[in-house]
Amino acid sequence: GTALGASAAERGRYFGAAIAAYKLSDSTYVGILNREFNSVTAENEMKWDATEPSQNNFSYTNADRIVSHAQSRGMAIRGHALVWHSQQPGWAQNMSGSALRSAMVNHITQVATKYRGRIHSWDVVNEAFADGSGGGRRDSNLQRTGNDWIEVAFRTARSADPNAKLCYNDYNTDGINAKSTGIYNMVQDFKSRGVPIDCVGFQSHLTNSVPSDYQANLQRFANLGVDVQITELDISGSNQANVYSTVTRACLAVSRCNGITVWGIRDSDSWRTGQNPLLFDSSGNKKAAYTSTLNAL
Ligand code: XIL
Repeated sequence: GTALGASAAERGRYFGAAIAAYKLSDSTYVGILNREFNSVTAENEMKWDATEPSQNNFSYTNADRIVSHAQSRGMAIRGHALVWHSQQPGWAQNMSGSALRSAMVNHITQVATKYRGRIHSWDVVNEAFADGSGGGRRDSNLQRTGNDWIEVAFRTARSADPNAKLCYNDYNTDGINAKSTGIYNMVQDFKSRGVPIDCVGFQSHLTNSVPSDYQANLQRFANLGVDVQITELDISGSNQANVYSTVTRACLAVSRCNGITVWGIRDSDSWRTGQNPLLFDSSGNKKAAYTSTLNAL
């Protein structure tokens, strides 16, 4: 193929990028976006602080810019993220208990209803598990409302947008480890009790290597009856091109891997400042990592 999105589509997958609304006036940026990608994620514009800056006052201007660009170009949209401990608006950060639980439910209902029918997959809950060997939940104001907050979030999202795939999304879950196993156990429990969950997102913020059991980890989740998606891929280091192709081949080898999203377009767009972890250099030229990824598709 000659472009990432078109080549992925031939394999029944999408190839997406995280984008920023304020960059949609940059013609180099938009040129690459429109040529190479068939899915987008709002890098920040659909987060809680952006969409509900004061309680029950919703602000969709920047999210709408991304949605209309994607829709006019036939790109899929990954919604990111309905609830997360980070990038909460100030008013929510210090809330707790039943007031916070109600605010969470209202937030999910409002945002998922606003974009109902237009979102391919929603990251309903982002980063709710702790790093390290415990395999348990991360402490947060949301977690302190009760362990059932995640299933309440998923049920609420399902009611608001019944056709979106509902994903749990996290990082440091790329191999089989205590954190990914904690999430695996939650998904298995949700499936056994009929809690709606359709997909698991693996952020895959990688540094020069990928765990040898990456594909096996994706496959064990797929075997639970959920789709898997690579949601925020970026890879630093001298082995970058090889690791990009390994990740791409792993997704293609798992039939329930729906697609790959890179977390930005050019190195200068990356949140990992100075690490050059993306597929295009800061001038918008294709890197070796681009070619190895395209060749793997
Ligand atoms: C990052 C954005 O790229 C930055 O612009 C922002 O300042 C902080 O958040 N995990 C996630 C993403 O789920 O939402 C984060 O995005 C990167 C880590």
